[in-house]
Amino acid sequence: VPPTRPFTFIGGDDGEWRVERIDAVAGDSLQSVATVAIVDRLIVEPSTAAGWLLRGVTSNERYATRREHVLLAAAQPALGRPEATCAALIPIRKTQQWWAMAQDERRAILEEESRHIETGLRYLPAVARRLHHCRDLGEPFDFLTWFEYAPEDAHAFEELVRILRHSREWSYVDREVDIRLVRP
Ligand code: HEM
Repeated sequence: VPPTRPFTFIGGDDGEWRVERIDAVAGDSLQSVATVAIVDRLIVEPSTAAGWLLRGVTSNERYATRREHVLLAAAQPALGRPEATCAALIPIRKTQQWWAMAQDERRAILEEESRHIETGLRYLPAVARRLHHCRDLGEPFDFLTWFEYAPEDAHAFEELVRILRHSREWSYVDREVDIRLVRP
């Protein structure tokens, strides 16, 4: 089991990823910035005045079954592939109603009803991903989701995002910002 790893996403003007667009899908957007930098620690203050900081930690899986865990491990690529020059940072917050449910009820909505994992698996190995948890850090979002893909897989990624946003799971999302990035 990989240990918990901390990350800070810094919206500013000197990051390695250039922002193409920031769309508010649900709830408030984030301030417009030129770039995003990712550092592997929890930062308290930005080095530049402008922009925002989003913090999260990787963690153990909550919902994946053994079978799904094995399928994911076999298909998921690593981050940082040279051809994966497109990325999405999608911070997400879920409703009080979601968090008031028991683990088995949330799993039933996420997978048995919404097929999140089964659907996501169809987009591997094109899309590399890392899920960061931040609800327990007192952050404005519950999750920071990060994806990397090659330009030729951009359509497939849009399709995946569209499918997930139409699922029952997403009726429990009350804030979502979609940040798309490219690196030279
Ligand atoms: C690329 C294909 C994808 C795969 C294979 C995938 C797989 C997974 C898996 C296995 C989990 C559960 C982890 C656990 O057991 O705790 C998960 C959680 C999550 N995924 Fe995805 N996913 C994909 C795409 C996406 C996309 C495109 C989004 C956002 C638009 C997204 C948002 C989330 C969120 C917010 C969670 C946390 C849900 C919660 O704990 O309530 N995923 N994903």
